[in-house]
Amino acid sequence: MLDGRLAVLAWRTFSLVVALCSLPPPSSAYFGLTGNQPLSILPLNVPAEDGPPKAQFKLCDRLKLEKKQRRMCRRDPGVAETLVEAISLSALECQYQFRFERWNCSLERYHRASILKRGFKETAVLYALSSAGLTHAIAKACSAGRMERCTCDEAPNLENRKAWQWGGCGDNLKYSNKFVKDFLGKRANKDLRARVDMHNTHVGMKVIKAGVDTTCKCHGVSGSCTVQTCWRQLAPFHKIGMVLKHRYEGAIKVGSNTNQAKGEPGPAPPRARAHAEPFSRTSDLLHIEDSPNFCQVSNYSAGTVARKCHKGKNCEAICCGRGHNTQSRVLTRPCQCQVRWCCYVECKQCTQKEEVYTCKG
Ligand SMILES: *[C@@H]1O[C@H](CO)[C@@H](O)[C@H](O)[C@H]1NC(C)=O
Ligand SMILES: *[C@@H]1O[C@H](CO)[C@@H](O)[C@H](O)[C@H]1NC(C)=O
Repeated sequence: MLDGRLAVLAWRTFSLVVALCSLPPPSSAYFGLTGNQPLSILPLNVPAEDGPPKAQFKLCDRLKLEKKQRRMCRRDPGVAETLVEAISLSALECQYQFRFERWNCSLERYHRASILKRGFKETAVLYALSSAGLTHAIAKACSAGRMERCTCDEAPNLENRKAWQWGGCGDNLKYSNKFVKDFLGKRANKDLRARVDMHNTHVGMKVIKAGVDTTCKCHGVSGSCTVQTCWRQLAPFHKIGMVLKHRYEGAIKVGSNTNQAKGEPGPAPPRARAHAEPFSRTSDLLHIEDSPNFCQVSNYSAGTVARKCHKGKNCEAICCGRGHNTQSRVLTRPCQCQVRWCCYVECKQCTQKEEVYTCKG
């Protein structure tokens, strides 16, 4: 069982690594799924003989950061590692949230680069997930003591301090927000797409902030809870992913008119000057263009031919009305495992029939 899951994880990571090697350069100071970071740097195989800070510097270089980002990366030994973690956090969550959709957040380099050139809902969620992952990872790294320039969250104003007190070690969102704003920078470019990208980036950060919860732990005689220690903690990133998936579904279209996308959308819209739309306050994700349907091979995805689907769940939707093939296969799996004294696990081999559904061409 576990073996299977590990294999899947390993395969996913491997695919990710292959997919994210060497992307074309981004148009701006973005990062993660929206930047130029090759995931080939994962896993962290920094040679051990040169310890920090040299190894750290190397990692910062390999991340293909912009000048200012590289400076920020190099100034605190914990940053590089945290940046890598942020990328994988965003990438894996995106693939998890979109695993049943036509667009399954395949991060194959050409497809991703093409999507980033446009203003689709998919573009929006990539921006939001990237900034959310970065904000999350930095705040956690602070409280985990992996950064030199930040530590636990400080206690908030003490007036609402009652039977409980602040303690523990909160996730440092304040530092993290400041870091991320600095790291991603402000763009002078004020065209509509740049503003929408920036807006979606902020949505990602705001979702992290909204997910902060106060966690308490009881002390006192046999858990009588006469004293409580409380600290602020970020929501698990899966929860963030779920919220952003919902925002993706309800994304709002703004700005220029577009041609209805049947298969492929038309040429990229001109980088029109934005009207003074008051969209910066909304917490919705914004997009400018209608998405392609992701049914066939295109610049944006591999299409859904031969894609595995789940009968009764998403075959109709992701096979785009072409129907699906059904294949039976027999699987042999270890089962009825028992721990034997001492210390190994003994399993029987069970065979099991499984139906596999794939979209027709
Ligand atoms: C795919 O991208 C290429 C290069 O950017 C472009 O010339 C071509 O028109 C695009 N194809 C479609 C179907 O949009
Ligand atoms: C997405 O779907 C394609 C087939 O359309 C498949 O090759 C790829 O492995 C899938 N990616 C993920 C991350 O599930």
